[in-house]
Amino acid sequence: MPSKYTDRKLSARYPTDLPAWKALTDHCKSSMRGKHLRDLFARDKKRAQRFSFKACDLALDYSKNHVNTTTMKHLAQLANQADVPAAIEAMFAGEKINKTEDRAVLHVALRSKISDMVALDTPGVREVWEVLTNMEAFVDGVHSGKIRGSTRKKITDIVNIGIGGSDLGPVMASRALRPCWKAGFRYHSVSNIDGTQLEDLKEELDPERTLFVVCSKTFTTQETMVNARAARDWIVEKLDAVAVQYHFVAASTNHEALDDFGIRSDYRFGFWDWVGGRYSMWSAVGLSLALVVGMDVFRRVLAGGRHMDLHFRQSPMDENMPVLLALLGVWYNNFFGAQSQAILPYTNRLDRFPAYLQQLQMESSGKSVRMDGKPVRCATGMVIWGEAGSNAQHSFMQLMHQGTRFVPVDFLLPGTSKLATANCRAQAQALMEGTTDKSLPAWRVHEGNRPSNTIHFSKLTPETLGQLIALYEHKVFVEGVIWGIDSFDQWGVELGKKLAQG
Ligand code: F6P
Repeated sequence: MPSKYTDRKLSARYPTDLPAWKALTDHCKSSMRGKHLRDLFARDKKRAQRFSFKACDLALDYSKNHVNTTTMKHLAQLANQADVPAAIEAMFAGEKINKTEDRAVLHVALRSKISDMVALDTPGVREVWEVLTNMEAFVDGVHSGKIRGSTRKKITDIVNIGIGGSDLGPVMASRALRPCWKAGFRYHSVSNIDGTQLEDLKEELDPERTLFVVCSKTFTTQETMVNARAARDWIVEKLDAVAVQYHFVAASTNHEALDDFGIRSDYRFGFWDWVGGRYSMWSAVGLSLALVVGMDVFRRVLAGGRHMDLHFRQSPMDENMPVLLALLGVWYNNFFGAQSQAILPYTNRLDRFPAYLQQLQMESSGKSVRMDGKPVRCATGMVIWGEAGSNAQHSFMQLMHQGTRFVPVDFLLPGTSKLATANCRAQAQALMEGTTDKSLPAWRVHEGNRPSNTIHFSKLTPETLGQLIALYEHKVFVEGVIWGIDSFDQWGVELGKKLAQG
């Protein structure tokens, strides 16, 4: 049964005609623009506590934003008037909220427990736990040495071959969880089409000990196929044609293409059309990650994602962390005209997290047509960029402190390094406060008044990583609901692919 969300008819001027949108427009002009964050803090000694809260193991401090309690009230009303609660329920119920592809959106089922009853009637959902069990048997087999290369040597090197969602998630997570790598195993990845990644890897890999994990939802993506064939040629050349069966494993929804490539049936792990590429690292696409960290750790990442799902599903709009991040995104994007947002993790282990979020947010929200085919009535996805904190400080943060651009920031801060924490806090404070010393020459003045969120967590664990990823997945979804777009299609990448193939 389609719900209030899937059935909704958007007015011609949606969302700009929602009462909360109008209230926010007035409130922005009359009360918030031109106010310095410094003054908001001076006036309210409890501001830091008032605008902070915890969800799962993440603590969000959003006090350094251009908001007051009235702003937050209007923003929560906007979420309600845009039917965000109904949209959340529609997703968990397995409704076809990806309208342009006529598909459900159920990455949340991949990390659910069967007792959560997430869309169990949707074809494929009940197979989720079986695939995880099969992955576990495979991963354990590789670790114990039961599963070996064609010459019976133990596997030591895992190479993920994929691109976009079939690369960024597992690669980002494998770097984030480096302390969890199983002894004796190494992780590598190949994505770009120019062949150089594999060329370099061949110099250091022993073919007898290498397992290629070919990840592709469609198993037709040109980059992945070119790289997978090149890897297969290398295995055939160094070992023999039979070795292909022992050195290639795949995650895909396209079984025919797996037959053609020569992937044996017990080395295949499937998923379903309701898993979008950029939402797929929770599925068999996470196999390369599981192979390097172990299935127990992989399941802990899933548990972290589920924890955030429960929070997202159960919390009211004004106490819901993904909703809050989305509303702040909409606030800056649509009411302050921000064009971009920076993601700055203060741990090098999250160095690929900004790249991961680029695909998640820009492929999801880079739309100018609404779900009903009409043009959008407001700006949609911002440009997302970023870098691990200290590196950022010593390259592009000059522009953020003194440039003419308005760039809201999300700082991601584990509490494990005192020096990183001191630097992260200093950056957030400098952006917010600026300088007040009137004797400074103009070029040394920091105006401040530049907003940021800080997401703290005591340690980067498999669970907190899962929570962070799910947090941003849901943030992107909520923004899309407010703008009236389909956050789960990606038609914009098709034309270039077609032209490249001639
Ligand atoms: O071209 C974009 C895209 O379709 C992404 O959405 C996807 O993550 C990536 O290509 C890879 O697709 P596949 O997993 O089918 O190879």
